[in-house]
Amino acid sequence: MEDSSFDLELELSSLPREKWWGDHYLFQHGGFWLMPESIQGVNRVAKHFRPLPSDVILASYPKTGTTWLKALLYSIVNRSYKHRLTVENPHSLVPFLEFFDIYGTPPYESTTVVDPLSDINHSRRIFSTHMPYQLLAKTLNSSDCHVVYVTRNPKDTLVSSWHFVNKWDEAREEPWPFEVAVEKFCRGVTPYGPYYDHVMGYRNLGLERPKNAHFVTYEELKNDPQTNVKNLAEFLGCPFEGEDVEGQVREIVKSCSFEVLSSHEVNKSEDVLAGVPLPLTVNSFFRKGGVGGYKDHMSDEIVGKIDALTREKFHSLGFMY
Ligand code: A3P
Repeated sequence: MEDSSFDLELELSSLPREKWWGDHYLFQHGGFWLMPESIQGVNRVAKHFRPLPSDVILASYPKTGTTWLKALLYSIVNRSYKHRLTVENPHSLVPFLEFFDIYGTPPYESTTVVDPLSDINHSRRIFSTHMPYQLLAKTLNSSDCHVVYVTRNPKDTLVSSWHFVNKWDEAREEPWPFEVAVEKFCRGVTPYGPYYDHVMGYRNLGLERPKNAHFVTYEELKNDPQTNVKNLAEFLGCPFEGEDVEGQVREIVKSCSFEVLSSHEVNKSEDVLAGVPLPLTVNSFFRKGGVGGYKDHMSDEIVGKIDALTREKFHSLGFMY
């Protein structure tokens, strides 16, 4: 740790805030809305994290396929250890930088200067983050590490988030109305939002530094997992080799599929996910795992509204959704 300001926290009272849902407020920092539970971790990562050239960083906006990609990246990088997916949930295998005991909330003590990564000794470290590129640019550009970004169509992402939040205990008494979720999403007032700025930040990184940043969509992965897993392995510099490459890839695709992954006892657990200061149960990361489910929830009017926004934000930049 290069300085002793590790615990210099952001002063929440100085930041713009807005109610997200229930009693939950979000705080605006660097153009993005963050939950109070993650904001100090985000600040610490931006200030102190120095990726090694061998590091793999999975970046994503929430509910776009993070859990799936964690399983895939873990399996691609640690081929002989992929059985661990049957006994550990993907979030334990690939921790969030801004949570857990990496850069998250305590065990830090203001008087102790510790390097939170000193215990992490894997041959190739894989981390994940929901942080937008705009807040991580200096960190990522200072390193030759590999960044994988997954994104998902905005309507399915929104529906997935809405279901996810409604699984929280407090939502049982007062569910989050769908119309409010739509309104917040469209205005960008969501954890790590705006979604559109998040996606475009990493999209541009991928275009500018294709050797260091790989951009993939949930839908591409669903449509052709075999090719995309091979592409990921090539990108990470560990292509499949030897006999029966197709068979090796098929095995990884299968062991990380929604059906197989969600069938493991460890992923059916109602336990709160360890290391994350939010009431998220392990099984809440697995719901339907499909494409186009938004059609069951959205009126034509809402679809029209989001599509218009998507055209405005993405299409002028050559990105289709
Ligand atoms: P749905 O709510 O649409 O089912 P994240 O991991 O970023 O929180 O995203 C969660 C979404 O990914 C959920 O979508 C979840 O069901 C889906 N998901 C989880 N594991 C998956 C897998 N192995 N394959 C495909 N989708 C998966």
